[in-house]
Amino acid sequence: MRSENMKKLFALLTSIMMLALCAGCGGGEESASSGDSGSKDGKQITIGYSQLGAESEWRTAQTESIKQAAKDAGINLQFSDAQQKQENQIKAIRSFIAQGVDLIAFTPIVETGWDTVLKEAKDAGIPVVIVDRDAKVSDDLYVAKIGTDSVAEGRKAFEWVDQYMKEQNKTPRGGGDQYQIAVLEGTVGASVSLGRSKGFNEAMQAAEDGSKYTIAMSQTGEFTRQKGQEVMESFLKSGGRDTIDILFSQNDDMALGAIQAIEAAGLQPGKDIVIVSVDGVKGAFQAMIDGKSNCTVECNPLQGPLLMETAKKILNGEQVDKMVYMDEGVFPAEVAEKTLPERKY
Ligand code: AHR
Repeated sequence: MRSENMKKLFALLTSIMMLALCAGCGGGEESASSGDSGSKDGKQITIGYSQLGAESEWRTAQTESIKQAAKDAGINLQFSDAQQKQENQIKAIRSFIAQGVDLIAFTPIVETGWDTVLKEAKDAGIPVVIVDRDAKVSDDLYVAKIGTDSVAEGRKAFEWVDQYMKEQNKTPRGGGDQYQIAVLEGTVGASVSLGRSKGFNEAMQAAEDGSKYTIAMSQTGEFTRQKGQEVMESFLKSGGRDTIDILFSQNDDMALGAIQAIEAAGLQPGKDIVIVSVDGVKGAFQAMIDGKSNCTVECNPLQGPLLMETAKKILNGEQVDKMVYMDEGVFPAEVAEKTLPERKY
C-alpha cells in the first residue's frame, strides 16, 4: 500500500516537471536549438522571428529555410507563427522585446501598421530585419530588408503572357478584339499583392499592344489553394466560362486551386485558359508537365541563409545593405520537365 502511494507521488511529480518544462512551448511559439558558432561576444545569438502563417507551399519552404539556416549557423531561433493575424505578429514582437532577444526579424502580413511596435524595438535597442514582404515604415525603424521584388514579378508575368499570346495568335474566346484576363490577388494589403498588381498593370499599359488586353475580373484568393478554387469557380459562373482567356494568379497555390475549378467547369486549364502564376513551387512545375499550366514566375523563399548572415553582421557591428533582393527566374512549361528535378521547394 505504502509503495503504491510512493509510485503515485513519483508519477505526479514527474508530470509536474514535464508541464513546467513545456510551459514555454505554447501560443504558436517554438525554439529551434542550435550549435555553437552563432555567437555575440562569446554568447549564443538569439533571434526572434515572427512568421505570418502557413498559407501556401511557398510559405512552408520559407519557414523551413529560416529554421534550417538558424540551426546551421548555431543561432537560437525563437519562432512564432501568427496564423494570418497582424495582431499576433505585434504580440510576438512585443514578447521578443520583453525577452531581450538580440535581433528581431519578421515577415509583415500587410504593409502598414508597424510603426508603434518597431519604435518600441528601437527604444529597447533591438535591431530589426524585415524579411520577404515589405512594410511601410521609416528607414530608422529597421536595419535591413531581405525580400523579393514583387513589382518585377508582376511585370515579368505580363511580359511572358504578351509574348505567348503573340506566338499563339489566338482569337479572344468571348469575341471582340481584346483578351480577357482574370486575376487572383493575394492577401489584401500585403506588399506582394500590391506589387504584383502594380508590375502587371504597368507592363500592360506600357506594352505596344497593351490595348489588346483587359482585366475583366479581379478578386483576392488570399494566397490559398481553397480560396483560389472558390474564387475561380465564381469567376467562371459569372460569365467567365466563355470569356476568360488568361488567368494571372498571384501565387501557385491559388493557380492549383483554380485548375480544379476550370476542369470542373469542363474546360482545359493551360489550353482554353492560359495560366501564369508566381512562386515556382514543385506543384506548379508538375501542373505544367501535365499540360495544365503555362508559366510560373519565381519568388525565391530560400531566404534563411541570407537572414542569418545579415543578422551576424549586424550584431558584429558590420555594415549591411539596407535592401537585398533574392535572385528569381521565369519558368515556362517548355522547361518544366528538365527543371523540376533541380527544384529545392
Ligand atoms: O510573400 C510571398 C508570398 O506569400 C508567396 O507568393 C505566396 O505563396 C505566399 O503565401
